[in-house]
Amino acid sequence: MSDTQLCTCVHAANPYLPMNMVIQRVVDETDDRTIKSFDLAFVHSEDGGEYSSRGEYSSPRFSYVPGQFCELSIFGQGEAPFGIASSPTEKGFVRFTVKKAGVVTSKLHSLKPGDNIGLRGPLGNHFPLEFMRGKNIVVIGGGFAFTTLRSLIVYLLESGERDQFGKITVIYGARTPGLLMYQQDLAAWEARDDIEMVQTIDVAVPGWTRRVGFVPNVTEQVAPTAANSVAIICGPPIMIRFTLPVMTKLGFQKEQIYTSLENRMKCGIGKCGRCNVGNKYVCLDGPVFSMAELAGLPPEY
Ligand SMILES: Cc1cc2nc3c(=O)[nH]c(=O)nc-3n(C[C@H](O)[C@H](O)[C@H](O)COP(=O)(O)OP(=O)(O)OC[C@H]3O[C@@H](n4cnc5c(N)ncnc54)[C@H](O)[C@@H]3O)c2cc1C
Ligand code: FES
Repeated sequence: MSDTQLCTCVHAANPYLPMNMVIQRVVDETDDRTIKSFDLAFVHSEDGGEYSSRGEYSSPRFSYVPGQFCELSIFGQGEAPFGIASSPTEKGFVRFTVKKAGVVTSKLHSLKPGDNIGLRGPLGNHFPLEFMRGKNIVVIGGGFAFTTLRSLIVYLLESGERDQFGKITVIYGARTPGLLMYQQDLAAWEARDDIEMVQTIDVAVPGWTRRVGFVPNVTEQVAPTAANSVAIICGPPIMIRFTLPVMTKLGFQKEQIYTSLENRMKCGIGKCGRCNVGNKYVCLDGPVFSMAELAGLPPEY
């Protein structure tokens, strides 16, 4: 048996073994340089799979859906979970956008193209694409939690299935213009007529011509229809806390609203009990939950 065959078999048997990835590209996403995107490629091509004629990226080992996450490991430092920021429709790389927070993320921020890291995944559930088909989609994001929302928006627009979804409204806010991530994507989405892109910052600054105000207030002004709609909301807890009553006021039911939790994790595969909320493992049953599901759980998130 060759090394390559052995490698694949060992991975398949042991979910704790990371795949070997090489950093292809590093991009500063914000002007304060605390958030970087890392485009990763598989060192062993059999890990990475291939693309279908429709451009969908799949492999028995790594086939993902927007909303899922991975554990990234830095040799000698440890492992941490990160949402997948690329869409399965994007070829040749898997993107993660990481805020410098502590041990793993600081080391990750010091790495360069050509450096190697480990990846376990994809892990967890994903945004409810089947439930979303035929409905209007409202995507609401704040700060750096926009990562998996980027994956979702790119997927909705680029998978060749745009006509299966109704109106798409995106509301994305940050404290300042320089803290809005994915500036090229935002500009491209703003220029399209099949998505309503609303950007907002907390306080007016010279040269800013878009909205000013907190995400909950702007959501109320934009007033997306609740009729036949699904809302996906990811952001800092305070943003979510103040946005939920606005959604209720607009007529959204708990069953129509989804969010993604970021509880502390260790194994990422439902074994260690580190991430549970009531009887749910966030790493396995989530990280994506409807507000109806969360209403039945203790407030441990
Ligand atoms: C499903 C999921 C998806 C995530 N996606 C992303 C992403 O796309 N981009 C991103 O930048 N981060 C993401 N995170 C958060 C990220 O995993 C943590 O910031 C990471 O663990 C920090 O690792 P570290 O070793 O650098 O920090 P540490 O050295 O472990 O900690 C640094 C500081 O952050 C605190 N901390 C660490 N993790 C958490 C947590 N989960 N909740 C509250 N406080 C915490 C610690 O107490 C400490 O104060 C995600 C988390 C989850 C569970
Ligand atoms: S992180 Fe171990 S059970 Fe979820």
